[in-house]
This record gives sequence, C-alpha cells and structure tokens, in this order.
Amino acid sequence: MFLYITLFEIFCQYVIFKNMLEILWWGVYLLIKEVKIMGKNFLDVIKSRRSVYGLSDKIDLKQQISEVIKESIVYAPSSFNSQSARIVVLFGEQHHKLWQITSDCLQKIVPTEKFASTKAKIQAFDAAYGTVLFFEDQSTVTELQNKFPLYKDNFPIWSEQANAMLQYCIWCALADIDVGANLQHYNPLIDENVRKTWNLPNSWKLIAQMPFGAISQPAGEKTSIPLDQKLKIFS
Ligand SMILES: Cc1cc2nc3c(=O)[nH]c(=O)nc-3n(C[C@H](O)[C@H](O)[C@H](O)COP(=O)(O)O)c2cc1C
Repeated sequence: MFLYITLFEIFCQYVIFKNMLEILWWGVYLLIKEVKIMGKNFLDVIKSRRSVYGLSDKIDLKQQISEVIKESIVYAPSSFNSQSARIVVLFGEQHHKLWQITSDCLQKIVPTEKFASTKAKIQAFDAAYGTVLFFEDQSTVTELQNKFPLYKDNFPIWSEQANAMLQYCIWCALADIDVGANLQHYNPLIDENVRKTWNLPNSWKLIAQMPFGAISQPAGEKTSIPLDQKLKIFS
C-alpha cells in the first residue's frame, strides 16, 4: 500500500514538473516570437530614421550596407517600372574625394568670411563612413516621353518622385541596421566634377547625396505640427 502511495506521489510530481516545463517553453517561444516581430516592425524603422549629422567611420559594415542598397534599388517602385534611378556608393578614399570636390566647388562661390562654417559642415560629412549618390538616367526619361507622349510632362516629375522613394527606402534600410544618414543637395554645383571623377554617363543627373556612418551624435528632438492639420480620415 505504502509503495502505491509513493509511486502515485512521484507520478503527480512528474506531471506537475512536465506542465511547468511546458509553460516555460511556451513563455520562451512567445518571447522570441515577440522580439522577432518587434525587430521586423516597419513602423518602428520609420520612426527610427532621422537626419543624423553626427556621423563617424567607426563601423565595419561595407557588406551589409551594400546589400541593403542592392535590395532597395531592385525593389523600390518607379513609374511604368521604368527603373530610371542610378546609384553610386562611395566608401573610404572615394567618399573623401567627393567631399573634397564639394569643398573645392563651394570655396569658389562662398564668400571668404563665411567659408569657415561651410568647411566645418563639409568636414562633418567627410567624417562619415561613406556616401550614396543618387542619380536619374535622363535617357530613360526621354525614352518614356517619346513612347507615351500623353504623359510627356509627367515623366520628369515621376522620375524625381521615384528617386525620392528610393532615397527614403535606403535611408530607412540603413536606420534598420543602426547606420545613421542625412540627405544633401550640392547638385548641380558638383555635377560635372562627379561625372568626370567616376566616369559616369552624361545622361545621369545627380539628384542627392546621402552621407552615412556610425551614429556619433544622435538626432535631436523633432517637432510635429498638430496631426489634424496634416491628416484627414473619412469613413
Ligand atoms: C526632399 C528633401 C530634401 C532635403 N534636403 C536636405 C538638405 O539639402 N540638407 C539637409 O541637411 N537636410 C535635408 N533634408 C532633411 C530634412 O531637413 C529633414 O528630413 C527634416 O528636417 C526632418 O528631420 P528628420 O529627417 O530627422 O526626420 C531634406 C529632406 C527632404 C525630404
């Protein structure tokens, strides 16, 4: 009789232990799932993207950065799927060359007494890890204008809009891997030099420059006008 009671107790303890283990497993599983979902949350990435000006080259992410840019240029949309966007990615010495070109071009047009602050701004971009140059191939735009005359006036606009989508896509994709970036427009001032330096086709029109790198100083607070001034929802 005593033996039966002891066996029954052991059995009960086993069942309790097994259930506890199962609950623990479920807890761990749900936690991992939650973390995974959080990591993939698109809106979180959108919120984390900022104009980061405090950038450094203290990262070693050439492969990952090239990969997100590759994926972005393949998957970003364009009008009529025209794919008129072109990208040049500059790392290391090539990146420094771009900001030297920009500094030289600016020096020719900025008054001497104001150049020190301009130079400091350019040095901050130069301190980054690399720069993405965004272009639009005008030969693709012209081709579309000839092919679809009805939309002739729209193609240059859609081309710029599509490029902006690609810029934003890459900006967010970089933010997702904790790489900071900002957006600059030294075109058309630097266009000719850029084209010559990297031997790019004449039809490539420079649209924007995006320096990127490790975040040495995060972006400050951002203000937002009241939501009801910029959003209307009807249902
Ligand atoms: C179309 C466009 C052009 C911009 N041009 C510049 C620029 O030339 N230089 C610059 O420092 N920031 C530029 N910005 C960045 C904006 O100033 C910035 O996005 C805005 O102040 C909001 O800050 P956030 O990017 O941190 O959200 C540009 C942004 C957009 C969307």
